[in-house]
Order: sequence, then structure tokens, then C-alpha cells
Amino acid sequence: MFLHGTSRQNERGHLEIGGIDVLSLAERYGTPLYIYDVALIRERARKFQKAFQEADLKAQVAYASKAFSSVAMIQLAEEEGLSLDVVSGGELFTAIKAGFPPERIHFHGNNKSPEELEMALQHKIGCIVLDNFHEIAITEELCKRAGQTVDVLLRITPGVEAHTHDYITTGQEDSKFGFDLHNGQVEQAIEQVLQSQAFELLGVHCHIGSQIFDTAGFVLAADKIFEKLAEWRETYSFIPSVLNLGGGFGIRYTKEDEPLPADVYVGKIIEAVKANAEHFGFDIPEIWIEPGRSLVGDAGTTLYTIGSQKQVPGIRKYVAIDGGMSDNIRPALYEAKYEASVANRMNAGRDDTVSIAGKCCESGDMLIWDLEVPEVRDGDVLAVFCTGAYGYSMANNYNRIPRPAVVFVEDGEAQLVIQRESYEDIVKLDLPLKSKVKQS
Ligand code: LLP
Repeated sequence: MFLHGTSRQNERGHLEIGGIDVLSLAERYGTPLYIYDVALIRERARKFQKAFQEADLKAQVAYASKAFSSVAMIQLAEEEGLSLDVVSGGELFTAIKAGFPPERIHFHGNNKSPEELEMALQHKIGCIVLDNFHEIAITEELCKRAGQTVDVLLRITPGVEAHTHDYITTGQEDSKFGFDLHNGQVEQAIEQVLQSQAFELLGVHCHIGSQIFDTAGFVLAADKIFEKLAEWRETYSFIPSVLNLGGGFGIRYTKEDEPLPADVYVGKIIEAVKANAEHFGFDIPEIWIEPGRSLVGDAGTTLYTIGSQKQVPGIRKYVAIDGGMSDNIRPALYEAKYEASVANRMNAGRDDTVSIAGKCCESGDMLIWDLEVPEVRDGDVLAVFCTGAYGYSMANNYNRIPRPAVVFVEDGEAQLVIQRESYEDIVKLDLPLKSKVKQS
């Protein structure tokens, strides 16, 4: 069986998470329903941090909140002592609403608007990760007006391509993100930033991709960055106090996936930074990382209720659920693979093979192809595992399907942390046609 964290099969043959029978959650909150195993999120957060503590190094583990942002989730990140990576005004607003300490917030993005940057400055967030010349100019102007300075990192593209799906690789040279390390762009940026009264340059940032299973890419990125740092020490007398190597640590969506434990990723990163620092004669900079998926991904499970079935003789059996690409767009967008079980009959033999179809009006709305299951019936509850990252955060209202609720479970207690959208919510921003308003 493919179970993570506190998930287990209980005496009734049901799936249990955080000490709670998920069937009772389906009954209480309805389906589709995202369930988060809070103990597993805590465990993941602690493991990353412990790896740095054991090495006795100054570090920040910033939760990349794009993976799943909500007030409760940000509060949990705060409770666990994480820092926070936000990439938009909306993510920043959520963090502020959640009471997250602004000084531990880092602001990313390749096209931050003046309003977003102003908001970041007003809240005196910890660091802005400058991505491009346009942003340097706007931020400098805003700082001048406010009579303020701000700590910044420069996002660079180190030209390292991580082994992952093309769409989610962001570290290669041909990228919309950051300053190129090899064509003189980054030097131009450093000069501007160092000359400006507005900025305190802490160091550099890179993010080489996502769902990465080995450490070679991180090591290579560190090597390339340090070579440049040594040059910049000569040219600009610039000594970095921070090196941010981004996120991207892989998780186990299916049995085929073989990610490394958090302490191995961190261990290799530390080793590479230490070795380079020693080689080039730098003090070890503070290391920052930004895991998103690996903090919340396998802690999330989505429950669906099974509805219609369609047998295509000699080809396949389609089994439809009450959600789909509206709550999990990853299979349609990235051909992402998931494991799943029938949550109300975990102990039944899996002697049927079916394909799980979403309910959206689109042939591409397929969640899982060729899943082994017991013979399923209308009303069975399907649990899809590892949906905690980029599930809710990429959910949408295609076909005007309301977004599901989100529940946190821990030690036998469940807590609703995001309410299910209602049909009224779906139309709440709609305005009627002028002529209809006149009539009424
Ligand atoms: N830092 C930066 C600058 C990033 O761009 C990302 C992700 C992260 C950290 C966190 O990466 P993680 O640890 O979660 O892999 N929607 C895609 C993933 C896009 C990731 C974008 N950047 C998916 O569903 O797989």
C-alpha cells in the first residue's frame, strides 16, 4: 500500500489520516475534499531545519507558499519557525493576514508590480529578490520616495538544467527568470544595486527547477555561483552574506519516484557551499532554501466520490469522480502521475483496472490512467495521494465548479481551514447586463 505520514488502514478497512477515519471527513465536509496531515508537514519542516542546525550553520528554510497558501497554512509555517517565500501581492497579503513576521518574508517574481513592491516595502518584509532591471528601477524609486532601504538578493539563472519536466525547469539559460550569469547582465545589475542608496545587497538567489531527485544540479549551481562571487569580490569588493539555492526537492508521487530524504539534499548543499567557500576563501554565507512541494506535497490527500462509469469494450473502463482538473490540473498540464486507493475498502483485492476521469467538459480531464482498484461502485470514496502541493493553489473554477474545502487533521482532530466555495461565491463578482438592471 502507498501511504505517507500518519495515513493508515483502520480496523474497518477505511483510510485514516491524523487519527481520523476519512469517511467521516467526507460525510462531514463533503467531497471533493483536500485533507492535510499536519504532523507530516511539521515532520518535513523540522527535518530540513535540523539538517542545518546539526551542521551548526546559519540558515533560513523558507516555505515556498505557491505550493499551498492559506492563512492556516502560513500560520503553521510560522509555528514551525520557517521563513516564507511569496511571489505575488495575493500571497503576500495572505501572509500578512496570517500574522506572519514580515522580516521572514522573501518576495519573488519576474514582474512584480509597483503596487506589489510598495506593499512589500510598507510591510518592511525581510528581502526582495530582484529579478530584472525594470524591477530594480521601480524599487529604487519607491525606496527613495519612502525614504527607506531594503535588503535584496539578485536572482540569477546559473545555466543549470535540473532533471525534471521541461515546463517546470526555471534555471536554464533560456528562462524568463532572473539575470543571466554568463552574458554580463548580472554584473550590470550588481553595479546598479551596489551604487544605489536604496539597496542592501545580501547575495544571490537561484532556483534550478522542481521535483528534482538528485543533488548534482544544486552542487553545480553552487560551483558556478562561487566562481562568480570570487570575481565580484575582486571587481566590486562585494562579499555575500546570503546564498539562496531555491527549492525543487522531489517527492514520491508514485512507486517509481525515488526522491532523497531532506537531510541528504541539505547535506550535499552544505558540503558544496562549504567546499567552495573554503576553496575561494570566503566565510560561509548564510544558506537559504525554499522548499514548497517537499514540505506539503505528500501531506495532502484529495477525497472524491465516485459517480458514473463507462466501459469501452476491449479498451478501458472510465470511472468518473466529482472533481478533476478544476481541483488538480497537474495531470492535464504536466502529465503528472498519482497513486490512489478506494478509501472505504482499503483491504479489498485490486482486481480491476480503471481510468479515473474528472467531471470537466474536456477529454483531457483525466486524473489517473490504468489504476488498479477493487471493483468500484457509485458512492465509493477515492483517495488520491500526494495532492498537497500545487493542488489547491492551482485550483480553478473551470465549468464554474466551486473549489473544494480544505481540512487539517492532527492527533484525532479535524479543522476546516478553507471553506468550500458555494454557487453564490461563483457568481459573486458577476454583474448583470445593463438592460436587465433597468428592467428590475
Ligand atoms: N523557489 C522558487 C523561486 C520557485 O520558483 C519555486 C517553484 C520554488 C522555490 C518551490 O519549488 P518546489 O520546492 O515546490 O519544487 N506548478 C508546478 C511547480 C512549479 C514550481 C514553480 N516554482 C507543479 O505543479 O509541479
